[in-house]
Formats: sequence, C-alpha cells, structure tokens
Amino acid sequence: GLPQSVQIYEVGARDGLQNEQRPVPTAVKTEFITRLAGAGLTTVEATSFVHPKWVPQLADAGEVVDALRGLSGVRLPVLVPNEAGLRRALDHGVTDIAVFVSATEAFSRRNLNRTVAESLAMTEQVITGAREAGGDRISVRGYVSMCFGDPWEGETSIDAVVGVGSRLLEMGCYELSLGDTIGVGTPGHVRRLIAAFGEAGHPASRLAVHFHDTYGQALANTLAALQSGVRTVDASAGGLGGCPYAKSATGNLATEDLVWQLHGLGIDTGVDLDALVRTSLWMADHLGRPSPSRVVRALAAE
Ligand code: HMG
Ligand code: MG
Repeated sequence: GLPQSVQIYEVGARDGLQNEQRPVPTAVKTEFITRLAGAGLTTVEATSFVHPKWVPQLADAGEVVDALRGLSGVRLPVLVPNEAGLRRALDHGVTDIAVFVSATEAFSRRNLNRTVAESLAMTEQVITGAREAGGDRISVRGYVSMCFGDPWEGETSIDAVVGVGSRLLEMGCYELSLGDTIGVGTPGHVRRLIAAFGEAGHPASRLAVHFHDTYGQALANTLAALQSGVRTVDASAGGLGGCPYAKSATGNLATEDLVWQLHGLGIDTGVDLDALVRTSLWMADHLGRPSPSRVVRALAAE
C-alpha cells in the first residue's frame, strides 16, 4: 500500500543548477536554498565538491556552504566524488555527504574519469575518510546512476545495478538513491529493480528513487516505487536540471509535480506547495526561462 508520508530529497540547487550554462551568483543559490527550506523541504542538497573544471557552475561550493551555516531545521547534503572533495567539504564543516557511482562503464568514464571498479575504490576511500574524520557524525548517502539505461550502452542490467548498489550499502551508505539519469525507465522496470534489491537483502526502506523526466515517466515511476515500499523521493524544484556528462539528460522530476500527486493521494510531505511554486517562479525569473514543471505553470496561470 501507500505510505502516510514521504520524505522528499530536494536536488534543485545541485542537480538542477550543475548544468546551467550562465553563472548563477552565489547569493541567488543561497537564497534559493533558503526559500526551499522555508517552503518546508527538510533535506536540500546544496552543491557539489567536485572538480571545479568539471562542473564550473558549482565551483563556489565552499562559499555556498559557508553562507548557509545559520540555516536550521534542514539538512544540506553535498556531493563528494573523491578524497580531494571530502577534504574541501570537511574544511567547510559539512556533515552530510553523498557519493556517486555509475552502474555502467561508459558513463563512469565520462562522469568520473574512472572505471566502475576504480570509482567504487575511490568512493570507499571517501567513506573511510569520512568515518576517520567524524565517525557516525557524518552521514553518507549513495547514488547509483544509469540504473535503467545508458545513452552509450542501452538498457542497464538489473544485476549490474544491484551489484554496484549493494557495494555502496555495504560500505556504509545509510540510503541508496537509484538514478534514472536519462529518464528512460518505466514502472515495471522500477518494480523489478526494487524487488531485486529485496532479494539481495536490501529492503525498499533503504532505497530512494531519483527520476529524470526526459520521457515523461517520472511520476508513474514514482508511484510504482512507492507501491514497492520506497519512502524517499528525489525531486528538483521547478524541474530544473540535467547532468552535464550524460547525453540527453533533462530535468529531474519537478518537486511541485511530485507534491501535487502526493497531496492528492493524501500523503503528507510537509511542503507548502504555494511557497514552493513562488520559489520556482522566482528562480525561473533569474534563469530567464519558464519552469518546465506542469504544476508550476498551471498554478502560476491561476
Ligand atoms: P580527474 O581529472 O580524474 O581528477 O577527475 P584527478 O583525480 O586525476 O585529479 C586531478 C587534479 O584535480 C588534482 O590536482 C586534484 O587535486 C584535483 P593536481 O594534483 O593536478 O593539482 N582534484 C580536485 N580539486 C577539487 N575538488 C575535487 C578534486 N578532485 C581532484 N573534488 C573527478 C576526477 C572525480 C574529480 C572528476 O571526474 C569530477 O569532478 N567529476 C564530477 C562530475 C559531476 O559532478 N557530475 C555530475 C554529478 S553526478 C549526477 O548528476 C548524477 C546524479 O544526479 C544521479 C543520477 O541522475 O543518476 C547524482
Ligand atoms: Mg540526477
């Protein structure tokens, strides 16, 4: 059955902005994050401590984290790819990190300049380093990308995803987010993947889903995941986003579209939809183009 509440893991400030061509001022990013928290989102991924040459848009990660230090009642995780990124994050007092690996070799090389095995080893160093620095005070989330298909390799095998994902959970990730980086998945595939994790000993309560809406499947896939026992859903305010190293990746599932569906189902999110829509309209103004979210457009037209 469906849950009474769902935890939304907001990725707009990170996944949403990482692909933005024009620089977004640090002050706009921090106001965006502050407004998202004000709209009731309790987990807002803030930025990435990746190589600034690889993702120039997030080169101000340290400044973003510093500027948000006073913000309470919200977790602000950041992406960390390697030990260099971990050191930078720790220097800025970060206690919530997310590591990421690909289920496919082609994307692993393009996104991390590593094979899958090498990126798992790099990730293990990050988790070990985080434990040494902060013990259990530092929480580590794991992402697996290209869980359904890859633009260079075609459909991704369920075994490959469960293999990589199980390694991340065994390394100590408290939660595993299954990424449909290019949005090709469909509900039956979602159900089969979550069931395969269950058979491998990893219940749906340890899983989150991370859908990009390229093929318009994100909401249907989310419902399938909820029916399979998933309770955490990643989404991006206004539907911003896309990965710079993944051909044909577009925006994430829009948080507003997700909230509309969940509230319609009587599922609690803690999110004030009107405040969230106002935030996305404000951000769309800054970016100079309308939000792709259907709910943002519909409510703005009312
Ligand atoms: P590399 O070029 O192999 O780096 O990149 P390296 O390890 O060879 O190091 C080269 C130099 O960079 C060294 O400096 C390092 O210190 C420095 P030198 O000794 O030459 O002076 N360096 C760094 N500096 C600052 N911060 C760092 C860092 N690391 C190394 N973190 C690397 C390897 C992993 C760094 C690079 O490939 C990278 O940054 N990739 C990140 C790509 C990315 O951010 N992609 C988007 C996020 S993933 C995503 O969007 C998917 C997701 O949303 C889920 C889904 O949708 O599926 C999560
Ligand atoms: Mg993503």
